Amino acid sequence: MKLWGGRFRKETDSLVNDFNASIHFDGRLYREDIAGSMAHARMLSDCGVISPEDRDAILAGLEGILSDIDAGKVEFTADNEDVHMNVEALLTERIGEAGKRLHTARSRNDQVAVDLRLYLRGEIEELIGQVLDLQQAIADQARRHRETVMPGYTHLQRAQPVSFAHHLLAYGEMLGRDVTRLTDCKKRMNRCPLGSGALAGTTYPIDRRETARLLGFDGPCSNSLDAVSDRDYAIELLGALSILMMHLSRFAEEVILWCSWEFKFVELDDAYSTGSSIMPQKKNPDVAELVRGKTGRVYGDLMGLLTTMKGLPLAYNKDMQEDKEPVFDAVDTVKMCLPVFTGMLSTLRVLPASMRRAAGGGFINATDCADYLTRKGLPFRDAYTAVGNLVYYCTQKGKLLEELSLEELQAVSPLFEEDVYESLNLERCMGQRKSFGGPAPEETARQLQELEQFIQEHRGKNAQIIGGVRTEERHG
Ligand code: ARG
Repeated sequence: MKLWGGRFRKETDSLVNDFNASIHFDGRLYREDIAGSMAHARMLSDCGVISPEDRDAILAGLEGILSDIDAGKVEFTADNEDVHMNVEALLTERIGEAGKRLHTARSRNDQVAVDLRLYLRGEIEELIGQVLDLQQAIADQARRHRETVMPGYTHLQRAQPVSFAHHLLAYGEMLGRDVTRLTDCKKRMNRCPLGSGALAGTTYPIDRRETARLLGFDGPCSNSLDAVSDRDYAIELLGALSILMMHLSRFAEEVILWCSWEFKFVELDDAYSTGSSIMPQKKNPDVAELVRGKTGRVYGDLMGLLTTMKGLPLAYNKDMQEDKEPVFDAVDTVKMCLPVFTGMLSTLRVLPASMRRAAGGGFINATDCADYLTRKGLPFRDAYTAVGNLVYYCTQKGKLLEELSLEELQAVSPLFEEDVYESLNLERCMGQRKSFGGPAPEETARQLQELEQFIQEHRGKNAQIIGGVRTEERHG
């Protein structure tokens, strides 16, 4: 018979049984479910709702169930619907009477909410660690390439000179915001719904602050209706993961471009690329393409959950059981993408000569040429027009700006002198861009140092939280 079978006089239809069950995907919450139950049992006994003997029997029973599940000795069943009822049924089977007291002053509605928050909090910590690893790989590549000139692009047209380090450090910044977004999300998520019951709290004299503290939460959720029906935290996480994947997909796209024959700025390591079944010459950037592809999947998870939650009346509705698969899918997907991307990035071979060659064409020193005239006193707008004319002239002659003779240059503006050639030198053009945030090597050194400091700081924070909370969370 079902745990809730009292009200019923017929067996559940077998189709409904399977349709209704969530155990095949929420089974993964068993650790959190058991941690929540342990905290609940402790609190119930501290508040005099259950006896210390029952508490001890429950704790020992749950301890045993936890290690048996960990050891693969437990088989969950769809007849018990979800992880909460599977664990509870198992407990009662093992310890009898006391097991039936565990669900006092609790509902699966607050139970599932606490499980998911605990689970996602742990996953966020892991995700943050992975993003920090990727940032470290960026820092390591950037350190080697502060002097490596490459064309910076707008509209995918060569625009102005930057360094490979500068380009990579842009991603370092984006990922830093992802880390802080995930951190914020975890902070907001870190309130405990346990004790909200089905929706309207309970008449038992429980202590919600105690369970919150035991589980490492910052405090209990303030409103019982909100506590059991809120899924913002999951949506927020999916939002943060979607933005993170958007960043990875842009990075992935650039890697794909860079290792094409048309660019050849980098070469992927053999271990991070794949071949073709028909074309013997191929070395494909499948890893980057898959990361780009999986981005769509994570966006889909976000849109799916937003749509599930849209228009749901308070408080719990069974629709909300549909929250888990998209969140799990997104978390699993991102957790697969990050380390493989990090490996791809740290093993890729940079080809500075091809970058330099590309930087040499496309007049990316044209702005510097206009700046030269401006320094000699010409208003920038006039300098801009003069250099525009020069570029047109060059395209007709098949020459670069620095290949024009002084006479040719002076035909456009008498302000040109011998020192213009130095100003057009690409290394110098990049090196002179010393404005805060620019590509000059001393500026990228500052950015790099900030990035490394950021990584260190956040690793420290993350480790503390894992150390402090995980233990409590896992062992009650
Ligand atoms: N398996 C359910 C879920 O994931 C647990 C909560 C069920 N609550 C209920 N009243 N049916 O949402």
